[in-house]
Amino acid sequence: MKKVTKAIIPAAGLGTRFLPITKAVPKPMLSVIDKPTIQFICEELASSGIADIVIVVSPGSEVIKNHFSPAPELENRLLSDKKSKLYDVAMETLKYNVNFVVQETANGLAGAILCAEPYINGEPFALLLGDELIYAGEGDKPCIKRLIEIYESTGKSVIATMEVFGDDVSKYGNIGIKDETEDGVMTIERIVEKPSINEALSNNAIIGRYVMDGKVMDMLKTLTVRNNEIYFTDALDTLAANGEILASNFDGIRYDVGDKFGYVKANLEYALRSEELKDQTKELIKELYEKI
Ligand code: UTP
Repeated sequence: MKKVTKAIIPAAGLGTRFLPITKAVPKPMLSVIDKPTIQFICEELASSGIADIVIVVSPGSEVIKNHFSPAPELENRLLSDKKSKLYDVAMETLKYNVNFVVQETANGLAGAILCAEPYINGEPFALLLGDELIYAGEGDKPCIKRLIEIYESTGKSVIATMEVFGDDVSKYGNIGIKDETEDGVMTIERIVEKPSINEALSNNAIIGRYVMDGKVMDMLKTLTVRNNEIYFTDALDTLAANGEILASNFDGIRYDVGDKFGYVKANLEYALRSEELKDQTKELIKELYEKI
């Protein structure tokens, strides 16, 4: 069975929901406390055994490349000041084998994936949206690792889904389920984009983690452009209609850092998990609670 060894992180979107910061800072560089979301994603990949990463960037987004490159002045200063812990923090991003490819025009997620085709070379790949973060607690399996295991045992593309309820159903792609195995692997029969509560096919919402068979690249090339974008969901729809795509829930908590409230939530919850910040953050929350 084919092994998954490569990953694509699309990071070239316009980030309109998060203006004005996204004029100059790509959404995947938005930080949770002190670390950009894209670095958390690289950690999820490393703990899932994937070392080969291609990041799709917009023209001129040097800030992402810089984050994964040496910073000699900073490193020398930290060394001469004997700040070895901070030196290690600064060096952390150099351990990832990251390639960059430019998406000249932000023509949608499928367009971004196609830009990475030369690196993928027909092989299966993990796809992790650059502005979504998944916190895996103690003992939790990383989300992308779960999907890789499913792909490697079935040979079928697989997407991560999470349970949503009430009005939240209308915020995500929603799947209809044909069948489900004992260990929670579902065969998708249909996908509806952001349905009303009545139109929803299930409580399972699509999130930004996928493992795709390499064949999907050819499929993406045949998609029609709508509203100047090539929609990845069009390819997922076709796979679903042919019974060729699976879905699975995952351990952990997903944050949409590219959404304003998702960003606030992620920062607050990570602060509550941080040894350095948790006490002050709890105090702050108590104070605020008294006032509202
Ligand atoms: P989004 O759907 O959040 O799109 O992309 P966006 O354009 O960045 O953001 P909004 O909706 O205007 O605020 C999901 C991921 O796919 C990447 C984005 O960078 C993000 O990480 N993406 C999206 C691309 O790389 N290229 C694109 O053309 C579109």
